[in-house]
Amino acid sequence: MSEIKNHETTVVKITAVGKLRGDFQLPGDKSISHRSAMFAAIGDGASRLRNYSSARDCQSTLDCLEALGVQIKREPELITVEGVGFDGLRQASQTLDVGNSGSTIRMLSGILAGQNFTTEITGDESIQRRPMKRVIDPLSLMGARIEAREGNFAPLKITGGNLNAIEYTPPVASAQVKSCVLLAGLFAEGKTTVVEKTPTRNHTEVMLREVGAAIETSEDGERISITSGHRLKPLGDYTVAGDLSSAAFFIVAALIAPDAEIRLRHIGVNPSRTALIDVLKQIGGRIEIENQRLAHGEPVADFLIRSSDLRGDLELSGAVIANLIDEIPILAVAATQLEGTLTIHDAHELRVKESDRIRSIVDNLRLMGIEVEEFDDGLRLKGKQQLRGARVKSYGDHRIAMAFAVAGLIAEGETEIVGAEAASVSLPEFYQLLKNSGATVVG
Ligand code: S3P
Repeated sequence: MSEIKNHETTVVKITAVGKLRGDFQLPGDKSISHRSAMFAAIGDGASRLRNYSSARDCQSTLDCLEALGVQIKREPELITVEGVGFDGLRQASQTLDVGNSGSTIRMLSGILAGQNFTTEITGDESIQRRPMKRVIDPLSLMGARIEAREGNFAPLKITGGNLNAIEYTPPVASAQVKSCVLLAGLFAEGKTTVVEKTPTRNHTEVMLREVGAAIETSEDGERISITSGHRLKPLGDYTVAGDLSSAAFFIVAALIAPDAEIRLRHIGVNPSRTALIDVLKQIGGRIEIENQRLAHGEPVADFLIRSSDLRGDLELSGAVIANLIDEIPILAVAATQLEGTLTIHDAHELRVKESDRIRSIVDNLRLMGIEVEEFDDGLRLKGKQQLRGARVKSYGDHRIAMAFAVAGLIAEGETEIVGAEAASVSLPEFYQLLKNSGATVVG
């Protein structure tokens, strides 16, 4: 069972940092890691995944695939997945546990909908509060039978097989939903299309192309189609790009710390994920992107980040939100140092992430002495405010834990993160890397 509960346990204490220096590579991107394991599992033959994310969420994906009969060898630097093909998954003998991972439950549901057996799948308390109707609806239209608590919440009981292709326009901008439908489309008769009004991260499309699936994207990017009947090649030797969403915490730390220079290597820079970088550069962030290259269809690059004076007003709403949704907690921390105002709208989705992130951000910022206005779909805060050390909570949410640890680096006095262990959901190495860079982190 997952360790993350509402009663937080570990407390980490952080004090202001003078000099911050670092030169490192980060573990693999969480989104890409989940996909690599799932595609490898249903491919024909073995895949060797390197730089696979150390995130607990990505281990949950491996656990679930193993429970479905996939052989996986986990070595420190290498995950070997013996693909079983489209028809090789086996009914699990117990309920699958995704822990805290929304990507696992939503994307795997697409694969499970294609299987001629019944699977029960659930996760921790946070997962059991997150909306699943967004995947239940399209999968039911395709012919899967899904039972859920109140028709919307895990545990889900999925009976699959004999799917028909659909054309589907998700009511929310969600890469998890898009991926779920495309994965189910691999098992459906004919051509399945997802119509995306707001673009979301496209790692699924990139990887489907890599493994030889019949995937097409219309010129305007709105229509993404998958035609079934093509078996998947293994990913073979595949190195996952470093996680930009994890890098974001070190990027902002370097920008707002008084004397910082951090180099991050081999980070994924897929344009569907880089809006935070654009926004930070727009307000004067000294971020150099070097050595851009393509790895397995995914753009990667190295970053050099230095302390910066952040200046300008930021009004973020509409399509850009989906591109930086995971980075809003750390962007809000950066904005406390901005000579200007940050306003965010159209980010309702933040309310149904690992925690209600609008509440978590606003509550913690206020505890740290920051004046911030809360909207139903966002927030507004005027910068150049002094952060004051306080006892803040992670709310069991990895990105909240890490964002406020970074806030602690420039706060007056000591910052305590209650429930700091949540960081391991995406980056178990987080506090150690901060320490290695010169921060005082105790606990
Ligand atoms: C993800 C998509 C996003 C993101 C999540 C990972 C993915 O979620 O917030 O951290 O890997 O596809 P939504 O699809 O719910 O927006």
